[in-house]
Amino acid sequence: MTTTTPTPAAFADAAPAGTLEARIRRHPERFRVMTGDRPTGALHLGHYFGTLHNRVRLQDLGVEVFVLVADYQALTDRDVVERLGATVEGLLLDYLAVGIDPERAVIFNHSAVPALNQLLLPFLSLVSVAELGRNPTVKDEIAHSRQAAVSGLMYTYPVHQAADILFCKGNLVPVGQDQLPHLEMTRTVARRFNERYEQVFPEPEALLSATPLLLGTDGTKMSKSRGNSIALGADADTTARLIKGARTDAERHITYDPEGRPAVSGLVLLAALCLDRDPHAVAEEIGGGGAAALKRTVTEAVNARLAPMRARRAEYAREMGYVRAVLRAGNERANAIADATLGQVREAMGGPV
Ligand code: TRP
Repeated sequence: MTTTTPTPAAFADAAPAGTLEARIRRHPERFRVMTGDRPTGALHLGHYFGTLHNRVRLQDLGVEVFVLVADYQALTDRDVVERLGATVEGLLLDYLAVGIDPERAVIFNHSAVPALNQLLLPFLSLVSVAELGRNPTVKDEIAHSRQAAVSGLMYTYPVHQAADILFCKGNLVPVGQDQLPHLEMTRTVARRFNERYEQVFPEPEALLSATPLLLGTDGTKMSKSRGNSIALGADADTTARLIKGARTDAERHITYDPEGRPAVSGLVLLAALCLDRDPHAVAEEIGGGGAAALKRTVTEAVNARLAPMRARRAEYAREMGYVRAVLRAGNERANAIADATLGQVREAMGGPV
């Protein structure tokens, strides 16, 4: 089951009765959000408007939020040894900077929670090889992979992701479109486990972000691997330089037309999201000012929106002892929960598994 969250500008509006959004607002205590990121690079504006913003919003509504640094999942398409330590620390700084509150949220990582990983084994027995091969997101990743050979983890990580979500009985997963097959896999695993053994797991719901896809400075999807992104932690000058070099088109008058003018519209959308305004109104205001005025507007809007987060990020970066302690505390909590769930799984399976 999937539902759409309002776009950021509409957050203040009432949620239509009966929708998932309305249920969350009425009973935030009934939901446990579970979500995470692969530590493969710095988080950027696409992450912020796509998911991070929504995590903080849910946290502030009173929903319990679990955030996973998916360090084992980062291994799916790597052929070489990469030390993840610095990337993981960067991710932690980004989480704290955007407002994830370690007093309320649990931040943890795969490799520190053995019982979570142990769930993968019984879960793998519940799915067929054919099902693993049919996952459209996995197929797409294989098609774009530069690996010499496809690893076993590439096919099985969606089941591992089911363990990420189910170990803590997460029932609400805010995701982008590409993650829906993984959520379906999670629901399948939960259902089959409950049917075969006994009722242990909820079937989590997806909360699909309605924020339109954010484009990078080259007019294609903003992505770490494409080198077209603006990192949350970048400084104001770097941001200005990246936006200055962004692609536009030959037409002077600025309009918002994502189909016909993707590059220009991507910049308009970025400014609009940062300003919490309607993109058509932003485009109209710039109008005949052309690409130069557009880029000025975008730069100012991005830098103004990110300034408080960047200041917080810099403060935390001076307190790395504290930042690491946040992860240690999150891992302790995650381990206690994972141990309890694994205990239930053992019992349901009827013996020492
Ligand atoms: N697959 C997600 C991504 O690539 C990361 C992730 C791992 C995740 N485990 C998760 C997301 C559990 C939501 C829930 O971004």
